[in-house]
Amino acid sequence: MTVAHEIVPVELGERSYSIHIGPGLLDRAGELIQPLMRGNRALVISDGNVAPLYMERVEKSLVAAGVMPMHTVMPAGEQTKDFKHLEALLDAMLEARSERGIMVVALGGGVVGDLTGFAASILLRGVDFVQIPTTLLAQVDSSVGGKTGINTRHGKNLIGAFHQPRLVLADTAALDSLPRRQVLAGYAEVVKYGIIDDAPFFDWLEVNALRLIDGDEDARRHAIATSCRAKARIVGADEREGGVRALLNLGHTFGHALEAETGFSDEMLHGEAVALGMVMALKLSARLGLAPASDVERLERHLTALGLPAALPRPRLWAPDRLIHHMAGDKKVKDGKVTFVLAKGIGQSFLTREVPEAELMAMLAEMAAGR
Ligand code: GLY
Repeated sequence: MTVAHEIVPVELGERSYSIHIGPGLLDRAGELIQPLMRGNRALVISDGNVAPLYMERVEKSLVAAGVMPMHTVMPAGEQTKDFKHLEALLDAMLEARSERGIMVVALGGGVVGDLTGFAASILLRGVDFVQIPTTLLAQVDSSVGGKTGINTRHGKNLIGAFHQPRLVLADTAALDSLPRRQVLAGYAEVVKYGIIDDAPFFDWLEVNALRLIDGDEDARRHAIATSCRAKARIVGADEREGGVRALLNLGHTFGHALEAETGFSDEMLHGEAVALGMVMALKLSARLGLAPASDVERLERHLTALGLPAALPRPRLWAPDRLIHHMAGDKKVKDGKVTFVLAKGIGQSFLTREVPEAELMAMLAEMAAGR
């Protein structure tokens, strides 16, 4: 039986592709990937958490479609996004390829997707790859749009390439195996699209977020498809982040500072830092007289109701000058100036590089004091 799913197109000329969203797509991977293949070999890359859950199903569906699957399983965790594992992956890909090429399949969360996509981008100067994201964060953000890369001791994602996948398969049922904290962290990226430019979506989330976090299939599909449509539209307009794509960094520059301050550890997950970063972006906007204070409160209420952080966790001291230092070290800095994503309110974000440092300091001090 074929389960209904939604298809969101990403329009990028000859690099266009579709994002399929719905339950049961893991079992349809073969049928959906095979028509895109030149040869009949696929190398599925996953990690130690995801492979035991889903590798067999994906390989079975590939075999059923006449594809010969091979697989490589990497260690789970952010530390895998490094040169050492990139090299191991490239070796595995070179061994697995045939003269008719190879289809690379990333099965997992953002780490697997970013690392696999980057390896695919440099193998033989670029080979085809498919994303099968299994976390909410990867389904609504990292698997879409072609950003790939690894981390170095100089920072996260500083080495990478734009390399679009040929297809994205977001199996919403795969989220059932995700710990709630991870679902919530991924959800921060969903809220982001409401604040960027879709106030009616934010209204909908206020009513339906708990349903989607608790696993309601329709709510999940609607939220993921709406997020992907927003990202597809923005990436379609500005694939390489010359301008408007930077709106997708809403909450990320502040979030990056919080992650850096907590050593990129489990103390604060990326999505939790983004949630706080969005609160900071709206607070700063309100302080500058751009956004109504009521919108800051609305976002704080929404995040708190779900169990996401809206205030800086204690007992850590969050020194404003250290946070600013981290922001300046972020890669979103051009000509020594940080590009901020601020908002005139929920659904009305914009880019600016003109933020008075005194106001920034005051907002950070207020957050640090728990106000
Ligand atoms: N995650 C932000 C972007 O893809 O541009």
